[in-house]
Amino acid sequence: MKQLIDPFGRTIEYLRISVTDRCDLRCSYCMSEDIEFLPRQDVLTFEEIIRLATSFAELGVTKIRLTGGEPLMRKKLPELVASIKAIKGVEEVVMTTNGTLLKKYAQPLFEAGLSRLNISLDTLKAERFHTLTRRDRLQAVLDGIAEAKKYAFESIKLNAVIMRGMNDDEIVPLTDFALENGLDISFIEEMPLGEVGYDRSVTFLASADIKNAIEKKHVLVSSNYKTGGPAVYSAIEGYKSRIGFISPHTNNFCSDCNRVRITAVGRLLLCLGNENSQDLRTVIRNGCSDDELRDTLISALKLKPEKHHFDLAEEVQILRFMSHTGG
Ligand code: GTP
Ligand code: 5AD
Ligand code: SF4
Repeated sequence: MKQLIDPFGRTIEYLRISVTDRCDLRCSYCMSEDIEFLPRQDVLTFEEIIRLATSFAELGVTKIRLTGGEPLMRKKLPELVASIKAIKGVEEVVMTTNGTLLKKYAQPLFEAGLSRLNISLDTLKAERFHTLTRRDRLQAVLDGIAEAKKYAFESIKLNAVIMRGMNDDEIVPLTDFALENGLDISFIEEMPLGEVGYDRSVTFLASADIKNAIEKKHVLVSSNYKTGGPAVYSAIEGYKSRIGFISPHTNNFCSDCNRVRITAVGRLLLCLGNENSQDLRTVIRNGCSDDELRDTLISALKLKPEKHHFDLAEEVQILRFMSHTGG
């Protein structure tokens, strides 16, 4: 039953759930070095997450993405994946991860029914990885990717946020790494969430520039591959990899928006680029009925804005760090 329709006529079928704000990396564009993590009792329990996911599924959500922080910091995550996969109406459970713990978890995640993995990887250079993430963990990520490749996930996709002067010289090496390993890759324009200590308008690189860099070596052809996410895909002849471009600044995708997100503390955020929200944790901890919960979700959709207004030239408008929403 499709009941989650926002004031702009968009149907919500994709729910992103941040299962923790914790992370073992400190990517400079995502969180500060001295970020304080939330007290555990503030974070939703697995039972609460499953209850919310069930309610969303009853209202037409078919795709659920687990995010963080780093979702695999949460113990027994494969069990959560299996429980969500078992919910009636849920067709796909997918995850966005930094990859450091995949060597241990790729197999249990696959066996739990996870369909697709998106793995953040902005550089293939160990020293630069250390600078960008403030942790010396590139090898763990590469080992995690190698492990994940052993299982028949529908797709393993790299996510690369490209920043001028920081990693734009790796657009082709990252593309080649994806091609050689049979992985998909999405290039992402950086979004201004949280105060990061550098001027994002200086490091900004548009998807068109990223495409141009790739086209110096490869011929990109358009692809009709779709995931229900914001990327627009191309392909390269002779390879199965899909090359995605996520362009919040230069090719706004808000008119096709099909998603909402729940933060680790159970705040339903109607848009990544906006603070409108509904506190679901209080609603469920106060003992609401299933009917009341569904009604709360339906009426919260009235708060969904038409689009984000990210503007790199302005002071940062969203103080919330990406790690609170999981992207
Ligand atoms: P697929 O299911 O593979 O399409 O994944 P996805 O792109 O939906 O999810 P992922 O977590 O890999 O996110 C990739 C990038 O897209 C991140 O930078 C996210 O912040 C960004 N993104 C995802 N959804 C939205 C959105 O609704 N608005 C904006 N502005 N960015 C988004
Ligand atoms: N802008 C764009 N993408 C971001 N990510 C994290 N912070 C930002 C940002 N400020 C990406 C991560 C991860 C995904 C969830 O979002 O690299 O792949
Ligand atoms: Fe939708 Fe907001 Fe994302 Fe735009 S920024 S696509 S309106 S969630």
